[in-house]
Amino acid sequence: MAASGTGREAFATKAGFLLAAAGSAVGLGNMWRFPYQVSEGGGAALVVVYIGLIFLIGIPLMLAEFAIGRRGQRAPIGSLRALGGPAWGRLGYLFVLVGFAILSYYSVIAGWTVRYGIEAVVQGFAPSAADHFTAVASGGDAVAYHVAFMMATTLIVVGGVKGGIERASLLLMPALFVLVVGLAIWAATLPGAAAGYAVYLMPEVEELLNPDVWRAAAGQVFFSLSLGMGGMLTFASYLRRDQNLPESATVVSFTDFGVAFFAGLLVFPVIYSFALQGAVSGSTIGALFIAVPSAFEAMGAWGRVVGLFFFLVLALGAITSTISLLEVVTASVMDELGWSRRKAALLMGTAITLVGIVPATDLDALGLLDKIAGELLLLLGGLALALFAGWRIPAAVRDELIAGASPFWQRQVPRILFVMRYVMPPLVAVLAFFSLRETASAVAAFFSG
Ligand code: PHE
Repeated sequence: MAASGTGREAFATKAGFLLAAAGSAVGLGNMWRFPYQVSEGGGAALVVVYIGLIFLIGIPLMLAEFAIGRRGQRAPIGSLRALGGPAWGRLGYLFVLVGFAILSYYSVIAGWTVRYGIEAVVQGFAPSAADHFTAVASGGDAVAYHVAFMMATTLIVVGGVKGGIERASLLLMPALFVLVVGLAIWAATLPGAAAGYAVYLMPEVEELLNPDVWRAAAGQVFFSLSLGMGGMLTFASYLRRDQNLPESATVVSFTDFGVAFFAGLLVFPVIYSFALQGAVSGSTIGALFIAVPSAFEAMGAWGRVVGLFFFLVLALGAITSTISLLEVVTASVMDELGWSRRKAALLMGTAITLVGIVPATDLDALGLLDKIAGELLLLLGGLALALFAGWRIPAAVRDELIAGASPFWQRQVPRILFVMRYVMPPLVAVLAFFSLRETASAVAAFFSG
């Protein structure tokens, strides 16, 4: 980052912004959550709906956040207040809460990836991956890895060493992609892979019409693209007006989808080839951590080497996401309470670490938090942002979408605005309603044991 003429920090290069946004988007959402959502609801139908929703919700909402952030030049609370008045500013507090809640369990899963990476070196992968996952996913060890991961995240946010992380992710994101594609090709050679492809790639018509599949797909679009909690808004607040916003949103969305898609091409053949269906449906949340180590175990010694790199790169992909989550919380607290970066990041990081002990010791609590914060609250936050951009400040949004865009993308702006105003808000509202219903019954089930 370099200082811009206005004195505010700004991205030094256009690629730096793309990298930060893609780094926030690509993470456990692609590798862990996508296969887990697909196996839980609808299989290939969810994949198809997901692609459609990238266009109807993902790209327009990302553009709404980009436009608000670049226009407002402040963290979410400040930008919304400056552009829409104090009542809108209060919406920003929801984002702080959501960032807080998502990070508290995301860091637990990130801790699993570190653990599996270390295990690859120290003891190799367990023959029964499902039993091993059950043994290590919650409890004292999970807490320890979660605490360690939060400490690393907090130190980075305190130091504000965005440059280093950005440069690192320039290398790591392509490495992750190459590894996942390579492993997906290997998975294609497994006996019985076809059954996995059938589940992943051949949609059933009745599932395409199932509102629950749409709800889960929408939740996944929000989570995977880091939308609905002001993360993309915050990054865009460090932008100058020469960035091509529509093109950036499209590139980030499809990069993100590419990683998730190949993760599925790896996970599903493995599940069916190694007959892990039972284990995975007993713990869909562990699908990745059951399927992938089984594959590495079958590869023998090489599996340990590939496995180490796989989990290492995944942990690094996760840290570029946890940084963005803690950054939203930290930046907001700094703005609103006038705290220093150090104080804000340390106190918030510690509080999140403590809350995370709950999901680190209870897998059901982790799943529930993911429904509440990782789906419902993102949908509600996104709905509010869509209404704000499309109806409260549409002229400013049009202006921002055109500024810096090439002629091709300028011609798309009316279409983007149409979707942003008329298609996305009602669609998200309906899906948020389904999410509310689903979350309410999940809460009830959780508390009745
Ligand atoms: N998009 C990240 C992922 O897919 C998670 C995330 C959600 C990050 C919300 C920031 C905000 O892993």
